[in-house]
Amino acid sequence: SGVHNYTYILKETNFTRLCSTKSMLTVNGQFPGPVLRVQKGDTVRVTVQNNGKYGVTIHWHGVKQPRNPWSDGPENITQCPIKPGKKFTYEVVFSDEEGTLWWHAHSDWSRATVHGAIVISPKNGTSYPFPKPYAEEVIILAEWYKGDVKELIDEATATGADPDPSDSYTLNGQPGYPNNCSVATTYRLPVIQGKTYLLRLIHAGMNEEMFFAIANHKLTVVAQDASYLKPINTSYVMITPGQTMDILVTANQSPSQYYIAARPFFDSMAPYDTTTTTAILQYAGNYTPPSSPSFPTLPNITDKSAADNFTTRLRALASNDHPISVPTGVDERIFITVSVNQLPCDKASCGGPNNSTLAASLNNISFSTPKIDILQAYYRNLSNVYESNFPNLPPSLFNFTGDSNDDLILPSTGTKAKIIEYGKRVEMVFQGTSIGNPENHPMHLHGFSFYLLGTGYGNFNKNTSPKTYNLMDPPEVNTFGVPKSGWATIRFVANNPGVWYMHCHLERHASWGMNTVIIVKNGTTSATSIRPPPANLPTCS
Ligand code: C2O
Ligand code: CU
Repeated sequence: SGVHNYTYILKETNFTRLCSTKSMLTVNGQFPGPVLRVQKGDTVRVTVQNNGKYGVTIHWHGVKQPRNPWSDGPENITQCPIKPGKKFTYEVVFSDEEGTLWWHAHSDWSRATVHGAIVISPKNGTSYPFPKPYAEEVIILAEWYKGDVKELIDEATATGADPDPSDSYTLNGQPGYPNNCSVATTYRLPVIQGKTYLLRLIHAGMNEEMFFAIANHKLTVVAQDASYLKPINTSYVMITPGQTMDILVTANQSPSQYYIAARPFFDSMAPYDTTTTTAILQYAGNYTPPSSPSFPTLPNITDKSAADNFTTRLRALASNDHPISVPTGVDERIFITVSVNQLPCDKASCGGPNNSTLAASLNNISFSTPKIDILQAYYRNLSNVYESNFPNLPPSLFNFTGDSNDDLILPSTGTKAKIIEYGKRVEMVFQGTSIGNPENHPMHLHGFSFYLLGTGYGNFNKNTSPKTYNLMDPPEVNTFGVPKSGWATIRFVANNPGVWYMHCHLERHASWGMNTVIIVKNGTTSATSIRPPPANLPTCS
């Protein structure tokens, strides 16, 4: 393993999609941004020079950053933003991750245009736990907004309204067919008949889960969130925002062109974005390209059982070379309700339902982001930035999936962190509620990967639900879906001291307060304590 240096220049760049041109924030003028290629165990220094118009931070999604929360990135959680004209060097420390992760901006909604892949190859002398593919490709699902994304979210915040959906999903930056504006620039994945390819699929989209498939081709999923799985064969995958999946595809059809497509999985009362993005799997050879290549069968947009049938098949590889270690006991149990709420409106014009402001909460607390980063406040013992009393239970034990009573819709607001002693074995149960507009929530915790022991519908039952846990080969992930009107349980050891953000990876919900912060205290030695801060941290003001 070695140390590598990269430079990311944040700057406004003109892009044209859907026949309209706009200036948007990019890294090095690219959309999607550059691929960060590393080897397992590397340390990477990325100097981010902000030549944009507003303050921004960068997060390395899924990189655990042992003892190094200073370089984790979420704005006003672990650092203050890098101001225009300034720079900051992130030290990104890779430990046991291997496979695909990604990086993205972590300020407002800037991740819509500021994101890219992280490809972590095996150490020298080791190899994939599957036959070496002929070639590899990064496939990034994201969204295209014709307008300025910062203006969009600033306007929605000003009224408390639901932000407008994007104008199109994109695959490697392109909307693809059937939009006439995009046919010529549709992304093409070149293949040779008989060869096998490794696709590194990343869901960088903002607000919905997605189905992904390739016409006439089977997919073999071999890893999720940079952790290997027992290979599963499938005709489609369901991927949630924040997740990454490594997928093998063999070009075993007659040489031609085939559509690759992705569209949302969204099961909720209120429809949101329903566009489909496409690319083309293009075989080498002499053939007449079909006038309309075959299109994959994607599950229906609300097909919950198709989503579940896929997700519940995922199991950790759990081999000798890639062992797992599920904590067998639990020291700290945390039960967290996940809800979309409303707050009384104190704005000039109110955009939420029934003259309200939209909000969201964990344990009925809607998170307010402080003005100074929590990491600094914790490290330097500053008061009045956050409170240490995020509760282990919601304030009332109602019928979570049965009661959508109006008085439950009102959360409290605050900046409450959950403090955890170093080394504790933590179990978190996330319980969706039927308050507001129930839907799935992709929860993400920084600083860790953890085992997803199980999910289920209805209310979590502490006697019967744990009997369904998979303790043998649960997938090790950093993002997972809390099912609509259901629950999900994760387990991990709190062995990474620091301040770690936990939030729904649907950007609307994160903006509305579906967040909290986990503070893992130092252990007893310097090797189990937060590293000293770097010298050039951006200043807060
Ligand atoms: Cu993908 Cu808080 O991150
Ligand atoms: Cu959510």
